Amino acid sequence: MALAVRPLTPALGAEVAGIDLRRATEQQVAEIKSLWSRYALLLFRGQALDEDDLVAYSRRFGDLEIHVRREFLSPHHPEILYVSNIKGPDGKPIGILSQNEVGWHYDQIYLPRPAVGSFLVAAQLPPDGGETWFSDMRAAYDALPADLKRRIEGRKAVQSYEAFNRAYSVPTSTEQKKRTPDIEHPLVRTHPITGRKALYICPGMTTAIVGLPEAESRAVLEELFAWTTRDEFVYRHRWTMGDGIMWDNACTMHRREPFDQRHHRLMKRTTILPPAHLAIPR
Ligand code: OGA
Ligand code: MN
Repeated sequence: MALAVRPLTPALGAEVAGIDLRRATEQQVAEIKSLWSRYALLLFRGQALDEDDLVAYSRRFGDLEIHVRREFLSPHHPEILYVSNIKGPDGKPIGILSQNEVGWHYDQIYLPRPAVGSFLVAAQLPPDGGETWFSDMRAAYDALPADLKRRIEGRKAVQSYEAFNRAYSVPTSTEQKKRTPDIEHPLVRTHPITGRKALYICPGMTTAIVGLPEAESRAVLEELFAWTTRDEFVYRHRWTMGDGIMWDNACTMHRREPFDQRHHRLMKRTTILPPAHLAIPR
């Protein structure tokens, strides 16, 4: 059966209906890949993926990463990262980002070879569902005022996982810090598949523009952050059980709306790695 595709905003995101992801054919997977590149975010509703299904489906898009935060991996599948405020029997959270506010970020922008995609499914939700917001950094780049575009042309920016962890109080171990030193990437990233340009910065992790004096670097970044989070670039997703969202990590950033901490929330994420020749941001 043909997939039914409904765009979610003028630029970013599409809902894909008419498919049970557990039984996707080769042809459907090929179609999903192409939709994923085009819309940068795909929403599937009414899915019933258990952890085996989640891993099997995600693998069809690439190798899966074992996240550096080992304490938050599924006990059954190390390819699945829990995002949750639920505490285990030892009183420690079973998932990452537990109760904290989670500001705008690109997953893995702090790594030399960031993941190409993430697939996040809802396993337990607060009564109102809670929201995750996504911003289209291609549309934000395309519409950028010309003077700002010129000021950042050819520049690199510094990405820091430590800055994120400090801002959103996610404690890391000494070993984890050692494995994630600050890193520079092009400030405007060319998508490895579509060739489209996107702003490759985020308020949560980008600390400086290389080669600009500190005050100017800060000022330009603040301007870019305000720009990229404007309503016209953002899709706000309110979660329902059975939802799964795949996003393109080379051209979208995301944040989580605070939610009522009296309720449990559990999301399960797989992290899809790029083929080696497309891995380094350019
Ligand atoms: C993530 C993430 C936000 C959320 O899984 O990378 O940022 O709403 N999740 O759970
Ligand atoms: Mn994230």
